[in-house]
Amino acid sequence: MTAFTINGRAVEVTAETDTPLLWVIREQLKLTGTRFGCGVAQCGACTVHLDGEPVRSCSFPLSGVEGRSVTTIEGLSEDGSHPVQCAWAELDVPQCGYCQSGQIMSAAALLARNPNPSDEDINAAMHGNLCRCGTYVRIRAAIHRASEN
Ligand code: FES
Ligand code: FES
Repeated sequence: MTAFTINGRAVEVTAETDTPLLWVIREQLKLTGTRFGCGVAQCGACTVHLDGEPVRSCSFPLSGVEGRSVTTIEGLSEDGSHPVQCAWAELDVPQCGYCQSGQIMSAAALLARNPNPSDEDINAAMHGNLCRCGTYVRIRAAIHRASEN
């Protein structure tokens, strides 16, 4: 049994301790906003926050979250009103949308530690989040927009 907090809710999960966190989030806890992309820590689609820091849940073992706090896209805000979510909507960032929950979680983590990032800061923080639709220019603009809110 692994006990942790997810989106402010205490949970206990029964699974092998090396089970990827992403499987637990999607299959056991039924929080499907976090996406499976590559499965090998290369694309960022599965990004969640662990104690506020972005982690790739497809490659992070359940054992690593014992006693810690996980936030998924569902927990970023109750009503989609997080500044990053608002900026994403204002600038119509997504295309197919598949990568976007991971993008938003990485952007939110960046802004939490650096409220006014430069283009270089954004590039450094976001370079591991891939978007096959090429929405990178809008992502960067939306992060700047969110930093103003
Ligand atoms: S699905 Fe986790 S990094 Fe690609
Ligand atoms: S919006 Fe389609 S992969 Fe990013």
